[in-house]
This record gives sequence, structure tokens and C-alpha cells, in this order.
Amino acid sequence: MSHIIEALNWRYAVKTFDPTKKVNETDIHDLKEALRLAPSSYGLQPWGFVDVQDKGLRERIREISANQAQVTDASHLLVLCRLADITEDHIKAHIKSISVQRNVPEENLAGFQANMINTLLPKPKKDQEAWMDRQVYIALGFLMAAAAQKGIDTCPMEGFKPAECDTILGLDERGLKSVVLCPVGYRSDSDRFASVKKVRFAADKVFVTK
Ligand SMILES: Cc1cc2nc3c(=O)[nH]c(=O)nc-3n(C[C@H](O)[C@H](O)[C@H](O)COP(=O)(O)O)c2cc1C
Repeated sequence: MSHIIEALNWRYAVKTFDPTKKVNETDIHDLKEALRLAPSSYGLQPWGFVDVQDKGLRERIREISANQAQVTDASHLLVLCRLADITEDHIKAHIKSISVQRNVPEENLAGFQANMINTLLPKPKKDQEAWMDRQVYIALGFLMAAAAQKGIDTCPMEGFKPAECDTILGLDERGLKSVVLCPVGYRSDSDRFASVKKVRFAADKVFVTK
């Protein structure tokens, strides 16, 4: 079996992390790079990622996460966020970044910029938010797959109150809204979910060949 499939079978959504085991700086750096390198529509990266290191903040987030222990017990808690608003300024910053990094004059990117502005900005706010959320979930997938390949555990978590999390982390000031939590660390020997069989539909149910 290929290494990636082995890793994806090995991973599971950890319920009990070992609070004594810490992910080292190099590995955390790599996982953050996996987030940063995730693809997004137009490459617009309408996101931000918060590494919550403060114990007190993690306790408070646990309280608004149905008391799920992963929030405080994992080595790291990453909060994956979308932008509060998708703005013309953000689109222009992206164009500038392409221009600098690829050494292309901004004028050559004017059509691309107009396309993004004309497509995204007129959408109803709800649709813009749903679009940004989708991009954040791609980053979540990259993070979890990269972690699994390194033998590092994660637990994707939607079971929290985003508006309260935003207040706890002061995300308004940053123009961010929390979408999904991802504790990162190492499973505890006592986590009974580690030995529970992975449940997935059979391939013939989920794949269609035409
Ligand atoms: C977007 C998302 C949100 C989830 N939220 C939670 C959560 O709040 N708490 C939790 O323990 N597991 C959560 N899970 C884990 C799922 O229950 C788990 O991924 C699923 O049952 C498949 O099992 P596996 O990941 O262990 O293979 C979430 C998973 C995803 C993808």
C-alpha cells in the first residue's frame, strides 16, 4: 500500500490526546506550511490561521466547544478562519503579490483582477461567506493529510461556537471569523477510538464511472 494510503488509514479524529507529548517546532512549521500552501479559488487565500498557545484562551475555547478535551490537551490548537469580508483591497493585495513574486507588471493582471472583482464582490454576503468557508476546508484537508504523513494526530472540530470563539480570540480586530478548529498532537494510549474500525462506504457506492 502506498505511504499516503497507509497514513490516511492510520489517522482518525483523535478524542483523547496525550497532554505530555508536544509536536516539535520543525514539524509545526511544516504543518503551517501545509496550510499556507493549500490551494484556493483564484489563489485568493481568503483565510487566516491562529495558533492558540495561551492556556487560558484554550480553556475558554474548550468551554464553548462542548467541553471537548482535545482543545486543551492536544499539543497545539490551530483555529482555521476565513476573512470576515472578501474585499477589493484583498483582491488587489493578491494581484500585487503575484506581480512581485512572478515579476509580472500589475497592468498585465488587470483582466484577472477585474474578473475576481466582478465575480466575487456582487455575490450576496452569505454566498461569499460560504465560498470562503469552502476554501478554509481545503486548507483543513491539507493540514490533516500532511500531519498524518508525519505521524502527527489531528481532530477536525466543528463542535464549537464560532461567534464566541471569535470574541475570545479578538478575531474582529484581525478581520477574521473562525470556521473550524484543529487540535494537533499525539494520541493517548487510552484513546479507545484508536482501535475502532474506520467506517467508510465501499468504493462502488461513492465512485461513478461514466
Ligand atoms: C468538518 C468536521 C468537523 C468535525 N467535528 C468534530 C468535533 O467537533 N468533535 C469530534 O470529536 N470530531 C469531529 N469530527 C470528526 C468526525 O466525526 C470524523 O472525522 C468522522 O467520524 C470520520 O472518522 P475518522 O476521521 O476518525 O476517520 C469532525 C470532522 C470534520 C471533517
